[in-house]
Amino acid sequence: MVRILVINGPNLDILGKRESEIYGNVTMDEINNELKKAAALKGNEIEFFQSNHEGDIVEKITSTETDGIIINPAAYTHTSVAIRDALSSREVPVVEVHLSNIYAREEFRHKSLIAPVVTGQVSGLGKRGYFLALDALMELADEK
Ligand code: DQA
Repeated sequence: MVRILVINGPNLDILGKRESEIYGNVTMDEINNELKKAAALKGNEIEFFQSNHEGDIVEKITSTETDGIIINPAAYTHTSVAIRDALSSREVPVVEVHLSNIYAREEFRHKSLIAPVVTGQVSGLGKRGYFLALDALMELADEK
């Protein structure tokens, strides 16, 4: 059994009501319910955490026992040394997910402070990114 932690950063709690031309109409709960089913199908456990507060995200990253982390740090992607350092402190694989293609948007979104410390990144594939990340982490954990 593999344990996966999914972390979503600021404003992702209002997904579905937020700039739907960029982020789509799907809500975080809908994505999470589907992820839960996908993990359960393979006998794995998944935990979800969303916060609009940087320190809460840091504490969740450093305090949770898990075999892999999926994180969409949202706006903190571009600003947070604290979240980067927290992820660096973990030895488990981490996949960074962005619903939109951050490299095709405003210049300030082109830089991710998180990318250099994660195992991989999926950007621009909408909600599919979370499922690709989940598959990758389940496979990586199996290889161990
Ligand atoms: C985002 C991209 C970020 O630049 C933005 O601040 C978000 C969402 C994405 O999923 O595309 O809030 O992480």
